[in-house]
Amino acid sequence: MMENKEKNLSALETEKQYEYIQKCREYVQQKEKELGRTLKACVNTFGCQMNARDSEKLVGILEQIGYEITENEDCDFVIFNTCTVRENANTRVYGRLGQLKNYKKKNPHMMIALCGCMMQEPHVVEKIKNTYRHVDLIFGTHNIYKFAELIYNCLNSDRMIIDIWKDTDKIVEDLPSERKYSFKSGVNIMFGCNNFCSYCIVPYVRGRERSRNPKDIIREIETLVADGVREVMLLGQNVNSYGKNLEQPVTFAELLSEVEKIEGLERIRFMTPHPKDLSDELIDVMSRSEKICHHIHLPLQSGSTEILKKMNRRYTKEQYLSLVERIREKIPDVSLTTDIIVGFPGETEEDFLDTMDVVRKARYDSAYTFIYSKRTGTPAAVMENQIPEEVVKERFDRLLKEIQQISAEMTRKNVNKTMKVLVESLNEQDESLVTGRLSNNLLVHFKADVSLIGQIVDVYLKEAKGFYYIGERV
Ligand code: 5AD
Ligand code: SF4
Repeated sequence: MMENKEKNLSALETEKQYEYIQKCREYVQQKEKELGRTLKACVNTFGCQMNARDSEKLVGILEQIGYEITENEDCDFVIFNTCTVRENANTRVYGRLGQLKNYKKKNPHMMIALCGCMMQEPHVVEKIKNTYRHVDLIFGTHNIYKFAELIYNCLNSDRMIIDIWKDTDKIVEDLPSERKYSFKSGVNIMFGCNNFCSYCIVPYVRGRERSRNPKDIIREIETLVADGVREVMLLGQNVNSYGKNLEQPVTFAELLSEVEKIEGLERIRFMTPHPKDLSDELIDVMSRSEKICHHIHLPLQSGSTEILKKMNRRYTKEQYLSLVERIREKIPDVSLTTDIIVGFPGETEEDFLDTMDVVRKARYDSAYTFIYSKRTGTPAAVMENQIPEEVVKERFDRLLKEIQQISAEMTRKNVNKTMKVLVESLNEQDESLVTGRLSNNLLVHFKADVSLIGQIVDVYLKEAKGFYYIGERV
């Protein structure tokens, strides 16, 4: 009963948004007549895959409204979909915003909108209100489905429109979205995060965990597959806790088994699992599956049990390593990647050496390393013993060196093998080459032309170059 009521509400909201799309469309047509040219919009995305997927939804709505999409910020409507996970993401947004001011001087009807994680922070909105008055619209992560309505309000107002929600329990289905790639797509399976790692701002800006109904997810993927998609990436901040709060709870492993059954779908990926609740059931499902890629991104953050405790990660160094062992035992050709933070408050040389030790034992195919960034409002921001910059830098360099050496060794293992590759694009540097992705997420460059884009082909891996390969089609 409850589920039906929610469904109807979601359908009503979708209908309402389509009405706003129509109203905005009329405006765009009118304006195009006046100017004697098409109106162009540019969506710029900062941050993670979640944001990239959100941007596809923004682009979908903009296209339905009638905007032509461009990569050039000197246009009629610029949207920054922002990230706030580390301070440098914020700094970049402010820099770019300054630049937009000049474009707007030339083109006074230009609109500028900001959305995404950074906008969920009150001090950011305050700063924009005071210093970047050329912004027209600010909204957050929870009301992105209302984009058309917000644009409509903006078109009918001379003032900066700000609409930020603290949290939501709503998921609105069936809005337009425009994929960046025709053959692969991200699919949100859940939103928000309940983990509260002490360094992380995400739970504060993305709200509490909400899972989409398995039926809606399957239906979306079926539609995508019918439209040419061969690979999906199931997205959530902590995919292992998928389905816990549904009326009829479902585990992530069960969801994967259902997705696997979709005919025509060839590859399944997911991002991101949390080591504390990566189940043996999931490892089993992966090891048996024909479609789930043998790649697990398993964020370590730190190898020191002491620091992990302060980070509120809820696993120890030993538990993490034993999980890695279990995964490697059941899925021998698995590719493991990770995220590591260097310089968390209180990190001693000994703690850091624990991180190095895990890196050596886990043998990652690649790793993203981050310098700890203080996020206002998180528990870690007020912890004692923040680490001096030069100490952090020196540790960071040591870690990077170790990681690069190991990933080079790991990639070499596949040389002289023939593997399946999903061709994604023309090579950026050399147009006689295409770039494709192996099941283990590594990239291969090989001679072929554009007609192969979107296809899965066998490629012989001739040479390993650190974290990518040079190959040859067989
Ligand atoms: N400082 C540095 N890195 C961070 N991450 C998240 N929050 C911070 C922070 N405050 C990193 C984590 C996470 C990745 C997406 O970003 O490693 O896994
Ligand atoms: Fe993604 Fe995190 Fe950045 Fe938000 S803050 S966009 S969830 S990386």
